[in-house]
Amino acid sequence: MRTILITLLLWIGITPAWAVVQIQPRIIGGTLVEDTVWPAVVAIRMEVRNTAGRLSERRCVGTLVAPRWVLSAAHCFFPESGAAIVPDARADNTTVFIDRATISSEVLNPEFGLPVTGIHIHPGFNAASGYYDSDLALVELAYPVENQVFQLLGRNPATGDMATVVGWGVTEVGLDGTPKATAGLSDELREADLPIVSADVCRAAMGSGNISDNMICAGFRDGGVDSCLGDSGGPLLVEQDGAFRQVGVVSFGDGCAKPDRYGVYTRVASYADWISELTDLNVDAGDVRVAGAVTDTPDVPVQPRSGGGGMLWMPMLLSLIIPLRFR
Ligand code: ARG
Repeated sequence: MRTILITLLLWIGITPAWAVVQIQPRIIGGTLVEDTVWPAVVAIRMEVRNTAGRLSERRCVGTLVAPRWVLSAAHCFFPESGAAIVPDARADNTTVFIDRATISSEVLNPEFGLPVTGIHIHPGFNAASGYYDSDLALVELAYPVENQVFQLLGRNPATGDMATVVGWGVTEVGLDGTPKATAGLSDELREADLPIVSADVCRAAMGSGNISDNMICAGFRDGGVDSCLGDSGGPLLVEQDGAFRQVGVVSFGDGCAKPDRYGVYTRVASYADWISELTDLNVDAGDVRVAGAVTDTPDVPVQPRSGGGGMLWMPMLLSLIIPLRFR
């Protein structure tokens, strides 16, 4: 009887505590950033077939790496089912948004975005396999923009180094780490800091067959901070010599922010040659560098605020959630 009572009391005492922890506003676990921060981070609207086979809007994040080039994730351009050899998204149904004022959790209006002339999916990416190696795409803008760009880092970040992830993705997950259907995208850009995890630890947690040497894992053992649905294509950044350089691209996870699971990022350094061939970025001593000086943006976290999901966005979100465990 006493044990039952104690268990009951513990249960009553503990449940609300972790229920609250789990539904805090997050990127998952992040803070809002001001409009002037991370000018190299852009939103991309593309059209891909949803699980019902209908072309519908999808949102991903991208980064300007040169005045006419946006780096993102290959899987963003494929149907939701993943079981496809060719991407659905084409240059003429893809739009890039660099003006923060035009980006919200709602469906983006292509009129306010920049036209695209080409989408280059890394030839090593095989959506149909369900294995996310080479999850990288370069989007060619119709004309150059003057925004600051990210320098890509050829060096591999060390285990334990802190990294920053940025995006408009889902900010709330349920108790099981599944993004909440009511959560929606974030109206404003968010960032979160999390440590780089070794390949061994990541393979043990995520299944060795899922993790290639071309991936970087990041996150806390206890979970709580992660990228999530809608953050795909966004940057994983590390600070070097006072500047943030991009080392990874948001690729997949298992739910979001779960304990003993990690966010998986495409390792930019593995693809330096492909990127430089396509974009003419200089590859210098293992670092992929943009010709010309690049200044850094300050990191200005403001108070976290819960992300309001636009209702228009719901059907799209649902279609994102249903298909794949890994996405
Ligand atoms: N595949 C997701 C997207 O398309 C990104 C998931 C990242 N997940 C994670 N737990 N880090 O938006």
